[in-house]
Amino acid sequence: MNYNLTHTQPEYIVQQLTLTRPDDWHLHLRDGALMQSVVQDTARQFARAIVMPNLKSPIIATAQALAYRARILAALPVGARFEPLMTLYLTDNTTAQEIQRARQSGVIHAVKLYPAGATTNSDAGVTDMRKAYPALEEMQRYGMPLLVHGEVTDPKVDVFDREAVFIEQVMSPLLADMPQLRVVFEHITTQDAVQFVTSAPNHIAATITAHHLLYNRNAMFSGGMRPHYYCLPVLKREGHRKALGKAASSGNPKFFLGTDSAPHEQHTKESACGCAGIYTAHAAIELYAEAFEQLNALDKLEGFASFYGADYYRLPRNTDQITLRKESWQVPDSLAFGEHRLVPLRAGEKMNWKMGG
Ligand code: NCD
Ligand code: ZN
Ligand code: ZN
Repeated sequence: MNYNLTHTQPEYIVQQLTLTRPDDWHLHLRDGALMQSVVQDTARQFARAIVMPNLKSPIIATAQALAYRARILAALPVGARFEPLMTLYLTDNTTAQEIQRARQSGVIHAVKLYPAGATTNSDAGVTDMRKAYPALEEMQRYGMPLLVHGEVTDPKVDVFDREAVFIEQVMSPLLADMPQLRVVFEHITTQDAVQFVTSAPNHIAATITAHHLLYNRNAMFSGGMRPHYYCLPVLKREGHRKALGKAASSGNPKFFLGTDSAPHEQHTKESACGCAGIYTAHAAIELYAEAFEQLNALDKLEGFASFYGADYYRLPRNTDQITLRKESWQVPDSLAFGEHRLVPLRAGEKMNWKMGG
């Protein structure tokens, strides 16, 4: 722990924390039996989540999003109150009409940009931003947010530089062409992204994951290759992690919670070519509490986790509360995931915050 107590401050350690129920503004639920195994983890902690559309067969049309939403609701445990906030997957061929349909549906809250080839299930993504301009112009008109996986895909660019290069080559030109477009820079990982978002207009925001707040790139290599710490954008240097912590705990409403919890079957990560994605939904708010405690900023957790995202998406803030207690518990070695298993973050290790029932 990192409490910087001076003589004048009373010495205390926070043992319990009550906050407005949080929302997850970046989540992967997958589909079918796989979804059934993970959706309860999110529904237990969060009231709502922005559900990513990168299924094996991506959600590119409003009708698909509506059907996916119905499957999510059907997969919820009895009595769970959880609202999936749907998104569309932007392609080279997304039309302005599709954006209108999405908006009129009332349940699609954003459109996701995956540069083709940038990450898991992104093959159908955008190959050239200009091709997506008709859709983006329509979104700009309506104020519908564009959610961005912000990495270039050029294999010549160092994998650790792909976010910074994206800002320069894609994000800045896009915002110059569409100055009113509302953009969430998803799962930011660098000081460059923090700086970019901080100095951009108010309609440019960012999500930050718990794992990028808690770990730097050494975690992938401590004592050997550790595939369960591999995600995209990949973990970065300590200086970048520090910059993310500063942003998340600054009270600046541009930065809010998005877990990017991304389940993969154990054998597809423990492989010669392992999948990118870290599963954190089993302990999401507890992981963020740990990160904010390390930052000596537990008082800033509620704004980040429960207020700023709802405000950005122009949705009401939640009114019920959750309680976190200082309590040691051990994360299981693996969790059920359809017919297979998944290895969550902190598998077999201790957590020091626990959400009450
Ligand atoms: C995500 C996934 O598995 O769907 N993986 C990841 O490493 N973050 C995709 C994404 O958010 O880029
Ligand atoms: Zn992504
Ligand atoms: Zn993601």
